[in-house]
Amino acid sequence: MGELAREAARHFSELAGERAARERQFTVALSGGSTPRAMFELLSREPHAREVPWRSVYFFWGDERMVPPDHPESNYRMARESLLDRVPVPDGNVFRMAGEAEDPELAAEEYSAQLREFFNLNPEPGSELPRFDLVLLGMGADAHTASLFPKTAALRAGRRVAVANHVEKLNADRLTLTPATINNARNVTFLVAGEEKAPALKSVLEGPHDPETYPSQLIRPSEGRLLWLADSRAAKLLTRP
Ligand code: 6PG
Repeated sequence: MGELAREAARHFSELAGERAARERQFTVALSGGSTPRAMFELLSREPHAREVPWRSVYFFWGDERMVPPDHPESNYRMARESLLDRVPVPDGNVFRMAGEAEDPELAAEEYSAQLREFFNLNPEPGSELPRFDLVLLGMGADAHTASLFPKTAALRAGRRVAVANHVEKLNADRLTLTPATINNARNVTFLVAGEEKAPALKSVLEGPHDPETYPSQLIRPSEGRLLWLADSRAAKLLTRP
C-alpha cells in the first residue's frame, strides 16, 4: 500500500503541475477508499504540498454515500480531513456531491447541472459531457468502481453526467458519475491494493467481457489515458505483465 500510494501521489502531482502550467486549471474527481486516503495524506506533505499548484486544482467527486458531509462514511469528509484542510485550496475550488440530500435523484441532477456549468457545457441534459483532467478510481472486490456496482441501473445510464444508484446489497442509494463521464476524462487512474482484490482484477483485465458482473470493465476512456496502479498482492493472479 505504501509504495502504491507514493506512486499515485507522484502521478497526481505531475499531472497537476503539467496541466496547471498550460491551462491554469487542473480538474480532478476523487474517490473514496483506503488507498486514496493514504495518497491524500502524502499529497498534503512535502514535497507535494509545496509542488502542487493548489490554487489551480478543482476538486470533484466520482461518487458519494447518502450521508451528511461530516459523517464518518462521507467521501468528502475523508478528502477534507486527509488533504483539503491541510493545503491552500480555496473553498470555491471544492465541488462536493450533496450526500445529505433527501432526494438522491435530485442531488444527482443538481451535481450534473453544476458540472455542466463549471465546464461551460450546453445546459441541455444528454448533450455534452465534462472532461476531467483526472478521474481517480478505486475498485472493490466485486469489481465495482465509483458507485457502479454489479447489476445496478447506473451501468446503463447512457450519456447522463451523474446519477443516483440504488445498490441492493448495501440497501442504500449512492451518487456516482456515469461510465460515459468517466470515459470522457483525459486521465483515468485506478488504485487497487490488497489480495482480496486479486480475483476481481484478474476478471476485469483478463476475463471475458461481462461488465454487468465486472463494472470496472466499462471504464475505457475514449480519448484519454487509462492507468492501473496495483500493488503486487492485487496483481498476483495476472498472467500478462
Ligand atoms: C467508495 C468508493 C469505492 C471504492 C472501492 C475501493 O466510496 O466506496 O469510491 O468505489 O473506491 O470500494 O475501496 P478501497 O480502496 O477502500 O478498497
